[in-house]
Amino acid sequence: MVKSAYIHIPFCRSKCHYCSFVSFCKLDLKKDYLKALAKEITNSYQGEVLNTIYFGGGTPSILEPSEIENILRIFKFNKDTEITIECNPDDLDYGYLRMLLDIGVNRLSLGCQSFDDGILKQINRRHNAGQVVNAVKLAQDAGFKNISLDFIYGLPNQTLEMFFKDLKNSVRLGVQHISLYGLKLEEGCYFASHMPDNMADDDTQADMYLGAVELLKKLEFEHYEVSNFSRRGFYSKHNLTYWNNEEYYGFGVAAHGYVNGVRYGNIEKIEQFISDPYIKKESKLLTKQEQLEEEIFLGFRKMRGINISEINFKYNIDFREKYREVLDKYENLNLIQKTPQGYSFTPNGILVSNVVLADFLD
Ligand SMILES: C[S@@+](CC[C@H](N)C(=O)[O-])C[C@H]1O[C@@H](n2cnc3c(N)ncnc32)[C@H](O)[C@@H]1O
Ligand code: SF4
Repeated sequence: MVKSAYIHIPFCRSKCHYCSFVSFCKLDLKKDYLKALAKEITNSYQGEVLNTIYFGGGTPSILEPSEIENILRIFKFNKDTEITIECNPDDLDYGYLRMLLDIGVNRLSLGCQSFDDGILKQINRRHNAGQVVNAVKLAQDAGFKNISLDFIYGLPNQTLEMFFKDLKNSVRLGVQHISLYGLKLEEGCYFASHMPDNMADDDTQADMYLGAVELLKKLEFEHYEVSNFSRRGFYSKHNLTYWNNEEYYGFGVAAHGYVNGVRYGNIEKIEQFISDPYIKKESKLLTKQEQLEEEIFLGFRKMRGINISEINFKYNIDFREKYREVLDKYENLNLIQKTPQGYSFTPNGILVSNVVLADFLD
């Protein structure tokens, strides 16, 4: 049964120079988009009581609380449902945050990226560091008890010291969750065609990552997924749905979902979505082998790794036997390690995870 829903809000007031996520500055399309989104949800949602609902973007905080409420009203959820909204710090004030809480939102994910004003300007963020600090304090005053900050490492002109100081400041602010993403420039973003000077090389990015893992551990944040850290009890329940290879709805332009064994992706053109929100860009019923490979890929993202008895039961295989050669090879190279339940990456393994995981493919 599907217990989670991702809802894509594809609007941004301006584009950050590093970002290739599907989002548009065409705010005049907002009303028509929300109508099409409601149609798509009403058509596919089967009425399950959801455990998690996640508004991602783009910039969901561009929406009025009443617009978010109109979407939430279509779903069944209860007081334990984790309802997250990704917010840009410059959108938030006390009144807005109070209204979000009133309609049931109980988790905020704020895009901070860096606490250095020079860097924020260079990457074309609309806010400065002070506004992030202020947004966190306002959210805490309003009553939010589950706040996450996103950071990017490997930004132009960013040093290890700056990055580690940002992390210490975040912990001091009292947030419950931190996500760290290594800068990756993909086609379509401004920096891909206007590469700035002073970009961190791969070795520096690796040092930033490994240093952050050490530091956050000392500051009592649990490293529970490759890019995610939290205080005890504050894992992102929604994102764990993905890493546990459970099914979820994906609604909105460019959203991906996994329902009844079918992985699907919605179309990426907003005008097309508005005129027909039911067309899919891709849709594929996964074979048992494909499901198993996804279970391995996603499971290894969790720091506790994969659970072999669960996999054996679910796929009716002897995992150790089937993958003995790969497991032995990477254990000997100290890239994966045995755990009480199965296997997980070592810190060095995370850095070359793509190479290791490719060896599990049929
Ligand atoms: C989908 S974005 C939406 C968040 C929100 N719009 C914001 O920017 O505050 C989620 C996060 O992805 C990360 N991100 C986006 N583009 C990235 C890139 N090219 N490399 C690494 N991380 C990236 C940023 O940390 C961002 O906060
Ligand atoms: S990082 Fe966030 S605000 Fe910036 S362009 Fe991407 S989705 Fe929009």
